[in-house]
Amino acid sequence: YYLGIDVGTSGTKSLLIDATGKVLAEAVAEYPMHQPKPGWTEQDPEDWWQATVATVRQVVRKAKAKPADVRAIGLSGQMHGSVFLDAKNKVVRPALLWNDQRTVAECDEITQRAGGRKALIKMVANPALTGFTAPKILWLRNNEPRKFDKVRKVLLPKDEIRRRLTGEFAGDMSDASGTLLLDVVKRQWSKKLLSKLELDPDLLPPVFESEQVTGQLTAAVAKELGLSTDCKVVAGAGDCAAGAIGNGVVERGVLSTSIGTSGVMFVHSDQPEYDAEGRLHTFCHAVHGQWHMMGVNLTSGGSLQWWIDNVVQGLAGIPKGKRYEAATAEAAEIAAGSGGLSFLPYLNGERTPHADPSARGAFVGLNLTHTRAHMTRAVMEGVVFAMRDSLEIIRSLNVPVDQIRVSGGGSKNPLWKQMQADIFGQNVVTLNAEQGPAYGVALLAAVGDGAYDSIGEACKATIQVKEQTKVDRKAASAMDALFPIYQDLYVALKDSF
Ligand code: XUL
Repeated sequence: YYLGIDVGTSGTKSLLIDATGKVLAEAVAEYPMHQPKPGWTEQDPEDWWQATVATVRQVVRKAKAKPADVRAIGLSGQMHGSVFLDAKNKVVRPALLWNDQRTVAECDEITQRAGGRKALIKMVANPALTGFTAPKILWLRNNEPRKFDKVRKVLLPKDEIRRRLTGEFAGDMSDASGTLLLDVVKRQWSKKLLSKLELDPDLLPPVFESEQVTGQLTAAVAKELGLSTDCKVVAGAGDCAAGAIGNGVVERGVLSTSIGTSGVMFVHSDQPEYDAEGRLHTFCHAVHGQWHMMGVNLTSGGSLQWWIDNVVQGLAGIPKGKRYEAATAEAAEIAAGSGGLSFLPYLNGERTPHADPSARGAFVGLNLTHTRAHMTRAVMEGVVFAMRDSLEIIRSLNVPVDQIRVSGGGSKNPLWKQMQADIFGQNVVTLNAEQGPAYGVALLAAVGDGAYDSIGEACKATIQVKEQTKVDRKAASAMDALFPIYQDLYVALKDSF
């Protein structure tokens, strides 16, 4: 058996598969995301560890697995987060997350130290963005210097879980790409940028390709989890690359979309390809020696969750657990275009394409005929328009998009699935295995254990297209007409945010 663990933003998911890719058991444990100030997001790495232990024990129990049955573990997690460890491997403060926006000054500092935006993109393939890890390290140095002085290692979220599982420091290429410190083309840490930023290279762990084995469980952890010390841990991947593997995105021409807290448009590439304006990220893929481009919206599922938690439930008194279905069901009764109502999903700033931490959410065009259902639908449409922004850039770079595979909230919810086909103007497909990043890294664990020769082969054997959702021409042309209006709204409003 192979175990996949995904340390997400809303919770950690563990999942056990057999060598044919069949899911034997899964479990999720949730934890909070703290917002000590507007624009700041933090989590306690101890919460991730507790959730990991609880969910692994649950899946082992549910599948009635004996310790020797689980041969390898793959790790995935929210990208970019900064776990700051002191000499005794204690965290010096809570981790800053991927959607934290406090590092505007540090992004400027990095760009300047690098010798400008172009020079920076040449070194690490990407511009400095607030969510990335390098600006978080500089923020600690600039704002909490006494804590910074204690730091001996900076780990990404899943790599902190690896340290606790195996006692080893290690990372993988895909997740490391999101630190802004990896030479993405050469697939190694950028000594050049580290030196310009006056950061000690020893702060970072060694990096591996995603299927490579980085260690084995310690005796104490193996006992606590009901597993064996022979159980290997492979490098794994950031949740975007891991999710793409889980969607079988391992060759050119295939794009996957995912709506979680964030929204991700992920396209495979055989060589590093760039958007000259730096709006899309160019990162290493979890496929050995390959790359990908992606656009990330910071508040996708997060927008609908905010809307339902704060407004829909309060107004209508819909019981918890029913509100998501109830709200999206009434939104499905409204025609495409939400009666002229637009929603901008920039509740916590935006990354792609605006790279603007100050951007904010907005409903625009409200009139007296609009109901709660129109507003819910507008939120969902706004989220997909934001994803189309990324798709348009990908298409303009002549990166082929022959097939769009939808996943996450955007495939589970039928309205969001149809909306994607209509707003992208292209049929979308769903897959047999819809387990996201945890499934992707469980497959990487199987490859690391030798069950398959490559991740491409593992995906071919386990992931099939299940059904196609066709574009509704009438809705698509209505949405096409609204897209330029959506795009203009950011331009018109940005100075007032
Ligand atoms: C990717 C990103 C998010 C997180 C969410 O660049 O910031 O998708 O990985 O977990």
